[in-house]
Amino acid sequence: MAGTPFDQLSGDIWYDGIFVPWADAKLHVLSHGLHYGSSVFEGERAYGGRIFKSEEHTRRLLESGRMLGFEIPWTAEQINAAKEETLARMNLTDAYIRPVAWRGSEMMGISAQKNTIHLAIAAWEWPSYFAPEERLKGIRLDMADYRRPDPKTAPYKAKAAGLYMICTISKHAAESKGYTDALMLDWRGRVAEATGANVFFIKEGRIHTPTPDCFLNGITRQTVIGLAKDRGIDVVERVIMPEELPDFEQCFVTGTAAEVTPVSEIAGNRYEVGAIIKTLMEDYDAAVRPQAPALQAASG
Ligand SMILES: Cc1ncc(COP(=O)(O)O)c(C=O)c1O
Repeated sequence: MAGTPFDQLSGDIWYDGIFVPWADAKLHVLSHGLHYGSSVFEGERAYGGRIFKSEEHTRRLLESGRMLGFEIPWTAEQINAAKEETLARMNLTDAYIRPVAWRGSEMMGISAQKNTIHLAIAAWEWPSYFAPEERLKGIRLDMADYRRPDPKTAPYKAKAAGLYMICTISKHAAESKGYTDALMLDWRGRVAEATGANVFFIKEGRIHTPTPDCFLNGITRQTVIGLAKDRGIDVVERVIMPEELPDFEQCFVTGTAAEVTPVSEIAGNRYEVGAIIKTLMEDYDAAVRPQAPALQAASG
């Protein structure tokens, strides 16, 4: 599955305000972000040369930094422009964009008040997160052992690197059992989300999704809720318990990387890839394309 390692791709990376050759976009091993998880990032996609919801992603990046106690030393406008420049410089139209900010090396301990805040933006070509044939069949999820933490234990609204530690562990455990991903419960034992995507269920024509009170309220999640409502489909945000999993007819996950991806199974509970999911997949594809008529509705 591993292709060219990411540090060996070619092109340029925007790094603290200047473009540097891909191979030179390095940081020192004694960087606070590496040791203490003081790093925040974004995952964005460009379709047909336009970064979908670029401003929303930039806003979340800046807010994520603030939730970790640092101010990224660039304005939203500067970051938006830098992302566009990176895409153009890399000559990409359909791509994944990865801004990442972290605390540097001036202090190496729990306290890092004086550390420089760095920002880098890389872009690369990236197809569907899940393999296309697997996507239409629906992916299989296992149940994760780890749970999304109590908001009193972590700044859950931040897209912070440290919060992904339990996601990688959970995804690896699921993959080792032949699943594609894992469904995580929250600290109370309620259904929360997949390791890198939000989750939705369908029953009797209505969509049900967990209230995002301890996990990321994804930008794709919000877009898809808008698209469903535009279609006149009821969307209920509520507490969902794992005991309800056998009762749902359909299931899908959403995320910038995952887009709208059907789920065929969660730990033995089977779901069909039905009409509502297919409609939402099409509507989302139309919404992200710059020339799409559904664009206005989706971004409203
Ligand atoms: C843990 C987690 N939840 C949800 C999402 C979906 O967020 P978005 O739709 O903003 O990409 C992501 C993807 O970034 C994620 O990593």
